Amino acid sequence: MEFSYKNPTQIEFGQGKIAELSTFISKEHKVLVVYGGGSIKKNGVYDQVKDALKEHSWCEFGGVEANPTKETLDKAVAFGQENDVTYVLAVGGGSVVDGSKYIINSFFHDGDGWDLLDGSSTPTKALPLGVVLTLAATGSESNTGAVITKKETKEKRFFHSPFSYPQFAVLDPDVLKSLDDRQLANGVIDAFVHTCEQYLTSNHGLKAQDYYAEGLLRGLSALASTFDKRDDKWYANLFWMANQALNGLIGSGVPQDWGTHFIGHELSGLYGMDHARTLAVIQPHLLRELIDEKEDKLLQMGKNVFHTETKNPEDIIVKIENMYKSLNVDLKLSSYTDDKDLKKNVTTLLEKHGFTKFGDRETITLDVVEKILDRAL
Ligand code: NZQ
Ligand code: ZN
Repeated sequence: MEFSYKNPTQIEFGQGKIAELSTFISKEHKVLVVYGGGSIKKNGVYDQVKDALKEHSWCEFGGVEANPTKETLDKAVAFGQENDVTYVLAVGGGSVVDGSKYIINSFFHDGDGWDLLDGSSTPTKALPLGVVLTLAATGSESNTGAVITKKETKEKRFFHSPFSYPQFAVLDPDVLKSLDDRQLANGVIDAFVHTCEQYLTSNHGLKAQDYYAEGLLRGLSALASTFDKRDDKWYANLFWMANQALNGLIGSGVPQDWGTHFIGHELSGLYGMDHARTLAVIQPHLLRELIDEKEDKLLQMGKNVFHTETKNPEDIIVKIENMYKSLNVDLKLSSYTDDKDLKKNVTTLLEKHGFTKFGDRETITLDVVEKILDRAL
């Protein structure tokens, strides 16, 4: 076990916390408020932000899509440059936060912002970033990742930058109450799979990471089974667990297998599927294809998360699938697209993006991807 861990994002958690926003951003800054398709104007979050920033100089850019596109974000960069902004405040879900990470990192970049995504350039300077989070799922509010789509080529790629840690993130669980069932289910699933990707690997014996991951998996499956009885605590639990699942802690020093995400990202890029739905469709079949290497951890998960002593790892995969089904998620890939060339399109993009052999043991080759997709269709 060897790692370096630092998470500098200040979390401000609790009801009514948006009102304190102005204390986290110096009044010297000119703030660019970035948001999505308008949900914040319907649920009162925009008004709360406006009130909190009344002594700041600020301007706004709305219209960042779910699965945010480079094409839209480039417009936000140009708008921010024209208005001499010095700070970006993301108000929204993972897409708005990721999009804002693209904005702050490409702001000073001399060239196409996509250079950051294809790895041809690494950022050396960025604007500071703050977040008011409105959807619990990605953990983007306190990590360095961002996933961006290039509409022109239907590519969805990610980049990491040390500048992308938000300085602060406000998590008011009341804000989640305007989310519909689909987005809340997406949040439970995304956080669940984030935890799995850092847990369902080899039997490494690092207890803190394993037991903490199991705690999150237990908590998230409890949220799934009480989905129809949501109270204040339910929302608060989801907000905090989604944050903890991908703020870097449980993945420190342990093997990780982001295979489900890598395949899922190509499906979102190609077919516009919700991120979490791609995961729910792919993960069970990826586990089936790799059942021998995942067996130990699946059985450990069975015992410590689902409280079953089964010796058959398939039973645990079925439990995971049943959890997704209980959240009304269609698990057949063919329900989302009828593209006859799906397998070829996915593997071609994976190859283009350098993913020809991945997973913690590098056993997920493009042939294995095809088998996973065959099962998922
Ligand atoms: O755009 P608006 O109008 O705000 O509506 C959004 C959007 O339609 C709506 N919404 C958000 N908060 C709401 C709300 N509606 C009502 N009430 C609220 N409080 O929900 C819809 C989905 O929002 P989005 O931001 O797309 O969802 P999510 O947070 O799940 O983010 C998904 C994106 O994050 C990426 C995904 O690939 C995807 O592009 N990810 C980012 C990661 C990271 N940075 O670490 C890791 C993840 O694995 C993931 O890949
Ligand atoms: Zn995810």
